Amino acid sequence: MEKPFTNPFRPGAGHMPPYLAGRTKQTQEFQKLLEQTIVTKNLVLTGLRGVGKTVLLDTLKPIAVNAGWLWAGTDLSESTSINEETVALRLITDLSVVTSNIIFDRQIVRTFGFKRDETLIDTTLNYEILVNLFKDIPGLISDKLKGILEFVWDCLKRQNIRGLIFAYDEAQTMADHTEKEQYPLSLLLDVFQSLQKKEIPFMLVMVGLPTLFPKLVEARTFSERMFRVVFLDRLDEQDSRDAIVTPIQGENCPVKLSEESIRLIIDISGGYPYFVQFICKEVYDIFVQQHTGGQNLRAPLDEITRKLDNDFFAGRWARATDRQRDLLTIIAGLPNADDEFTVQEVVEEAKKSEKPFSASHVSQMLVSLTNSGLVYKNRYGKYSFAVPLLAQYILRQLREKPQQQKLF
Ligand SMILES: Nc1ncnc2c1ncn2[C@@H]1O[C@H](COP(=O)(O)OP(=O)(O)OP(=O)(O)O)[C@@H](O)[C@H]1O
Ligand SMILES: [Mg+2]
Repeated sequence: MEKPFTNPFRPGAGHMPPYLAGRTKQTQEFQKLLEQTIVTKNLVLTGLRGVGKTVLLDTLKPIAVNAGWLWAGTDLSESTSINEETVALRLITDLSVVTSNIIFDRQIVRTFGFKRDETLIDTTLNYEILVNLFKDIPGLISDKLKGILEFVWDCLKRQNIRGLIFAYDEAQTMADHTEKEQYPLSLLLDVFQSLQKKEIPFMLVMVGLPTLFPKLVEARTFSERMFRVVFLDRLDEQDSRDAIVTPIQGENCPVKLSEESIRLIIDISGGYPYFVQFICKEVYDIFVQQHTGGQNLRAPLDEITRKLDNDFFAGRWARATDRQRDLLTIIAGLPNADDEFTVQEVVEEAKKSEKPFSASHVSQMLVSLTNSGLVYKNRYGKYSFAVPLLAQYILRQLREKPQQQKLF
C-alpha cells in the first residue's frame, strides 16, 4: 500500500523545509569562497529571525566536504565567550571531532617475551592530546591557540585536505568583556587573521542575527575586510510560491491550493520562510480535516494569523515593558517601519502621539530594545526591527485593543 501523504511543512528552528526555496545566489557566494587557496575572505551569513540561516548552513556543509574541506563547528551561546579560555577550548573541542582519527605519531614498541613481538601504537589528534598540547605551549591564550591550530594544519596538509572550516551558528551571542579584561571575540578574530596571513587555509563561517557583523567590526575593524557578508532576505514572490507549492505537488497529496489561497499565503507570510512553513502547515491540516482537498476552499487566514501571533509574537511582546511597547507602537506607525528608521524619525512621529519621547530617551530605549533582541542598529547607525513583520503584529494588537478592553 502506498504510504499516506503526511503534512510536509516544517515550521521550527533549524528544521529542514520540505523544499528549500531560493538561496542559489547565496550558495554560489559560498562556493566561490571554497575556491580560495589562500583564505582572505570568511563568511558572515546573517538575517532576521526565522529567515533560514540555520537550514542554509546545514546545506553548505556537504558542499564544503565534497570540495575537500573539513567542517567543524557548533551552535554558540553566551557561555562560549565567558572568557578567552572558554572560546579556545570550544575551538579545540570542535576541532578534535574532525581530527580524532588523524594519526600524527606512530611508534613501534618492541616487546620481548616468549616470542619477540612488535606492536604499533598510533597517537591521534584527539581531544586529550590537543588539550595537553594547548597547556604545554607557553604564552598568552592566543599564542597557545595559534600554536595548536598550526600544529594541526601541519598534520592535516599531508592528508590531501584542502582546508578546514569552523562554522558557528548563533554567533551574535559572542562578546568581549572589557570590564573583566576578557576579549574572547577579538581573540577569535585575531587568531584566524594571523593563521590566514600565514597561508593556513582555515576559514570562519559565522551565522547570526543582523547584530553579528556590526559586533565583529566593533571588536576588530579589520573584520570589515575579513568577511564577505551574505544577507538572507525574505523570499521573493516566485520563491515563496515554490516553497508553498512544491511540497504538495505529489499525485497522492490530498491538498491542492487554489491560486487565491497561494496568493494570500504569500501576502500574509511576507515571504518570510518561517511564516511560510507555519501558515502552510496550518492550512494543510485544516484542509485535510475538511476532506475536500481544499481546491475550492479559502484558507481561514485570519484564524491562522491569530495563532501565529500567539505562537511567535506574543511571547516577545510580553517581555517588553509598557514604556517600550509605547515606543514600539510609535515606530510601527512609521511608513518605513519595515525598513530602516532613525532616532529623529521616531521622535517626530512620537510628537503626534500623546506620549512624546525625547531624542536621548529614544536612543536609550533603542539600546535596551536591541539588547532584548527586538531591534538592531546597522553599521550606518540606523535601526530596524529584528523580528520580521513585527510592525504589522503591533498594528493588529492596536486594532484589537478596544475589543479586549470591552471584555473587562
Ligand atoms: N529557503 C527556504 N524555503 C522554505 N522554507 C525555509 C527556507 N529557509 C528556511 N525555511 C524554514 O523557515 C524556518 C526557519 O528556518 P531557520 O531555523 O533556518 O531560520 P534561522 O534564520 O536560523 O532562524 P533564527 O534566527 O531563529 O536562528 C524553518 O521552519 C525552515 O524549515
Ligand atoms: Mg538559526
